[in-house]
Amino acid sequence: MKSGINYSFRGKPISLALVACFLFTILLWTWESNPIAATFRSAQEWYLMPSEFPAEVPIGSTGTQKLEGSEGKSSTTITKNGTNPKVNTVDSETVESIPAKSPEIQYNQDNRSPSSEDCNYGKGRWVPDSRRPLYSGFGCKQWLSSMWSCRMTQRPDFSFENYRWQPVNCDMPEFDSSSFLRKMQDKTIAFIGDSLGRQQFQSLMCMTTGGEENLEVQNVGWEYGLVKPRGAIRPDGWAYRFPQTNTTILYYWSASLCDLVPLNVSDKLSDVAMHLDRPPAFMRRFLDRFDVLVLNTGHHWNRGKLTANRWVMHVDGKPNEDEILAEIPNAKNFTIYNVVRWLDLQLDSHPRLKAFFRTISPRHFYNGDWNTGGSCDNTIPFTNGTEVTRDRSMDQTIEGALKGTKIKILDITALSQLRDEAHMSRYTARGMQNSSDCLHWCLPGIPDTWNELLVAQI
Ligand SMILES: *[C@@H]1O[C@H](CO)[C@@H](O)[C@H](O)[C@H]1NC(C)=O
Ligand SMILES: *[C@@H]1O[C@H](CO)[C@@H](O)[C@H](O)[C@H]1NC(C)=O
Ligand SMILES: *[C@@H]1O[C@H](CO)[C@@H](O)[C@H](O)[C@H]1NC(C)=O
Ligand SMILES: *[C@@H]1O[C@H](CO)[C@@H](O)[C@H](O)[C@H]1NC(C)=O
Ligand SMILES: *[C@@H]1O[C@H](CO)[C@@H](O)[C@H](O)[C@H]1NC(C)=O
Ligand SMILES: *[C@@H]1O[C@H](CO)[C@@H](O)[C@H](O)[C@H]1NC(C)=O
Repeated sequence: MKSGINYSFRGKPISLALVACFLFTILLWTWESNPIAATFRSAQEWYLMPSEFPAEVPIGSTGTQKLEGSEGKSSTTITKNGTNPKVNTVDSETVESIPAKSPEIQYNQDNRSPSSEDCNYGKGRWVPDSRRPLYSGFGCKQWLSSMWSCRMTQRPDFSFENYRWQPVNCDMPEFDSSSFLRKMQDKTIAFIGDSLGRQQFQSLMCMTTGGEENLEVQNVGWEYGLVKPRGAIRPDGWAYRFPQTNTTILYYWSASLCDLVPLNVSDKLSDVAMHLDRPPAFMRRFLDRFDVLVLNTGHHWNRGKLTANRWVMHVDGKPNEDEILAEIPNAKNFTIYNVVRWLDLQLDSHPRLKAFFRTISPRHFYNGDWNTGGSCDNTIPFTNGTEVTRDRSMDQTIEGALKGTKIKILDITALSQLRDEAHMSRYTARGMQNSSDCLHWCLPGIPDTWNELLVAQI
């Protein structure tokens, strides 16, 4: 982890916002006129663009915000059925660094007896396995975004697909889609988080179908108000049901895990109140329907994203005036602790809900950052070894916030850290040799392992 590279937009927020607006306009236009072409946009464009912009402030509608406003009159009616969502739309995530050293935080030592449930799945090693990947990168077109499908790019090396994670002292049953579906009979599994959460969602859809086309799977996004708002690039999430077992898998985009409410709903370019102390309305509203919930956040906590999205920090319903809290790491920490506390309290009245917080997915930009020619060109696996021996998470924020709660840690940071060769890398865009995606992962790939660890713990 290049922890020294902690980029910041401080000092040029205005120009970024302008660039972002411009790119968004172009992109929207391109998309409308040629959806396919839009998928070949440059990586530069997708990093710069407040891509999830359309989700926050849908053009010509209040889209997300209707839902986000949940308690008020603004609640979306969720009777309208959606059309098949476009999966391969714009995405962008920028990134943060993980502190090189993790402080001495004690692992969550409550008084439950040690069992495989409590073992540390994040400690172990990568082993070669010819039964990987769990689905073909040439398949799964139904759910896999083309932008993350490395087999569909010019990439020549795929050795990264042939490993499995072996925890050192936990039971790790082989993933099997029919037993997974049986286990999840009549259940709903929800991912709420940023685009890395969306990768994990797509991965689970592919794992569950084995990457085969499956026309029986129903699009039930409408049940959750996940319908593409008029003029928007995509809905705020997707939900699919496997009718054989009545299992639902859904994803909702909430990159900050904050409630987002536009300050002026009739103004498309309105600032958006980012309520640091309020979980996303979608989560509050639909929590009752979830049996498994997987949260994540992290890569949107930087000044550039906040400015580009016009997110204005609010606390206690009012604009935040606390300058210390306004610093990004503090705001992020505050939000994570808040959402964790809220969810932990909810678990008392939702005994069947299993809640997980996934730790941050590491990025691997070398010799620069995402916007200064940073790359991750290594194709040799495990140059830093195959093993994780540490007991504590590299993600001290999430680990600290979960301590003493009933929410489980899905600790994927250190094991993913060993896989710098498995990102989209330079194959993310055409003709942009200088621009690599060393944040998102190829699929099939590392997020499949996150799901194997998740399923083992459900
Ligand atoms: C490998 O370890 C070295 C030394 O700890 C570190 O500088 C480097 O960033 C690591 N590389 C990866 C891919 O994690
Ligand atoms: C939406 O689709 C579902 C499943 O296909 C159907 O049962 C339901 O009646 C539809 N609702 C509307 C409002 O069209
Ligand atoms: C499907 O599962 C849901 C719970 O997620 C349950 O409420 C519903 O009754 C089930 N439907 C059928 C047809 O079994
Ligand atoms: C909200 O936005 C609309 C459209 O831009 C504008 O006409 C109106 O004055 C704004 N309302 C407030 C309270 O600023
Ligand atoms: C994060 O917030 C918690 C709760 O307020 C606090 O105890 C902790 O020290 C904070 N951590 C950091 C790194 O600021
Ligand atoms: C690539 O990025 C590096 C570092 O910012 C820069 O020096 C170089 O001129 C760039 N090359 C191209 C072709 O843009």
